[in-house]
Amino acid sequence: MPENDVIAEIKARVGIEDVVGETVRLTRAGRNLKGLCPFHGEKTPSFVVYPQNGSYHCFGCGENGDIFGFLMKTEGLDFRGALEKMAGKAGVELKPRNDQAVAEDRQKERLKEACAAASAYYHNLFRNHPAANHARAYAEKRGLTADTIEKFQVGFAPDSWDALGSYLAGRGYSAQEMVDAGLVAEKDEGGHYDRFRNRLMFPIRDSKGAIVGFGARALGEGQTPKYLNSPQSAIYDKSSILYGFDLARQAIQKSGQVVVVEGYMDVVGAHQAGQANVVASSGTALTDRHAEMLKRIAKRIVLCLDPDTAGDLAALKGSEVLQEHAEKIAIPIRGERGLMGVERRSELEIRIMQLPRGKDPDELLLEPGGPQQWEQLREDALPLVEHVIGVVAARHDLKSAHGKSDAVKEMALFVREIGDPVQRAHYAQRVASVMRVSEEAVAEALGRGARKAEGGRQKAVGREYREGRTERDVTPAHTGLPSPIDPGAATEEHLLSLVVRYPQVTWMVNTPAPEDFTRRENRTIYEAVMQAALESDKVNVDAEGIRLAARESLDPALVPHFDRVYAKGEPELFRFALPYELGGRLKRLRQHNDRMWLQQCQFMMQEAQETGDVETIAKLLPLLGRSFSRFRHYNPKPSTVFRDSRD
Ligand code: UTP
Ligand code: MN
Repeated sequence: MPENDVIAEIKARVGIEDVVGETVRLTRAGRNLKGLCPFHGEKTPSFVVYPQNGSYHCFGCGENGDIFGFLMKTEGLDFRGALEKMAGKAGVELKPRNDQAVAEDRQKERLKEACAAASAYYHNLFRNHPAANHARAYAEKRGLTADTIEKFQVGFAPDSWDALGSYLAGRGYSAQEMVDAGLVAEKDEGGHYDRFRNRLMFPIRDSKGAIVGFGARALGEGQTPKYLNSPQSAIYDKSSILYGFDLARQAIQKSGQVVVVEGYMDVVGAHQAGQANVVASSGTALTDRHAEMLKRIAKRIVLCLDPDTAGDLAALKGSEVLQEHAEKIAIPIRGERGLMGVERRSELEIRIMQLPRGKDPDELLLEPGGPQQWEQLREDALPLVEHVIGVVAARHDLKSAHGKSDAVKEMALFVREIGDPVQRAHYAQRVASVMRVSEEAVAEALGRGARKAEGGRQKAVGREYREGRTERDVTPAHTGLPSPIDPGAATEEHLLSLVVRYPQVTWMVNTPAPEDFTRRENRTIYEAVMQAALESDKVNVDAEGIRLAARESLDPALVPHFDRVYAKGEPELFRFALPYELGGRLKRLRQHNDRMWLQQCQFMMQEAQETGDVETIAKLLPLLGRSFSRFRHYNPKPSTVFRDSRD
């Protein structure tokens, strides 16, 4: 281990059981520990922690990984975030990324502090100042309790052009910092003025709980706009921030579903009414980044919309994004799904929840019986496609042949975007039966757009990897079983060293999936190389250039590991040997992972037998059966005619 390899050092110093133990109650099970899986709901433990190789693995849902992966998943951190947290715990010093990044970080910290100070100021006024009488009366009229006001730090911005500016100046913030934080605006003729005046303030927090902006509601009659929001800034990126996410995370994780509403008041009202898995986008459409955040911890996303056409249209926009993600998640297990009951890995479900006409979520939730009605509506929420079928049907005159044909075409547009062929067929049938047309007619409408859809797909960046892989590679090696734990890491690094030396192998037919790498540092490096290769010139291959770009994009803490893996790679492999090498090394890694998995299964089985844990046995039996067929796939009977060259 080179001295500067902080990742290895952290892993050596921090026990996975301590990290996991902070979130999951673990009990001893032989050499290992066991608990209820934090990634899917369960009543008997299938979640196992292996201290000796620093990994965890859930036999119920297939989640697995190391300490970094665990923190990234449970706390919504990126690799750097997880690294920083663990470095602190291990007492290991992290090299800063670089001077510029450090300076930017410091500036962001300042802006967040300015927002926090502003929020404290507004909140204090709201609670104590006579000038906030009408704001308090308004909050009361809206039914907000003292607890809620405290929890969401609801505040009041006074009706003044310079109250906040002077306050923050007194606390040492420069005008530029206030502008950058979006708290004050610049006057044309020079000077500054408070952005928010005479408004009810909702501080907006990032996923770590730091205040990064405000949504400010009008209090006076005729005050426009109704909501004034902080502008996009270095700390407030509307495409990645969800209002209420920091407070909702646990509930989302626990229930496996998140409800996305449209308004700040709706989130506040929902939490007050005991519905804690509710978030809102800040007056923007849901983006890819939002979906990324949510899909890490939720399996089902319920979009809660008012029944107006506007709501429906917004739903289509938002859910297009999510559907895209749903496909991506579904892809690694396509063709294998269901066999193991790997629920969590299966598609992200998008449902549309419709409220009664004229009711905002917060109104519904805060009236008597509201929460029960809410839960009912949530459970009744329709899968996206069903919803779309309904919306489209309602928009056309189905009595006329023309209207009907248009409706079918429009529905087909949606249905053919569904990645899973079984589901696609299911919805095609639904369209036929709802529209009372023959399945052939629907199939024809589907077929007509298919070629166009294919063309569009090719262009989508990053997609060809996934697309190509799933279509070509349906060997059982492909994550039907979760990729398990690697004690030595040597096998992973053997494969990774080839990728780092010869990045062009990521264009080959049988490329590894990121999930083949159990160790997060390896997976992150693999993804970086894949990304750099994707962005490079495929005709004049510049391996060195790709490698440098990948290395450059990495967190510096990963660079020593990257260099070490690179040094392991053979410098003089013959070009034509690359596919063969890639295939061989990938096979070995999967074989190795399978063997580990099998061992762990057997171990669990033995223990379950000893303790008479029938439920666990029932869970494990089918897994073992599948393991066996995979084992056979790797180890066919030796030929009696040819010499067996396997090692
Ligand atoms: P709504 O008009 O539904 O407001 O806008 P609301 O949240 O239900 O608020 P109340 O109940 O009338 O107090 C939904 C969301 O759209 C954004 C805000 O994020 C708001 O929460 N919005 C709305 C704006 O950004 N600006 C506006 O002028 C209006
Ligand atoms: Mn409302």
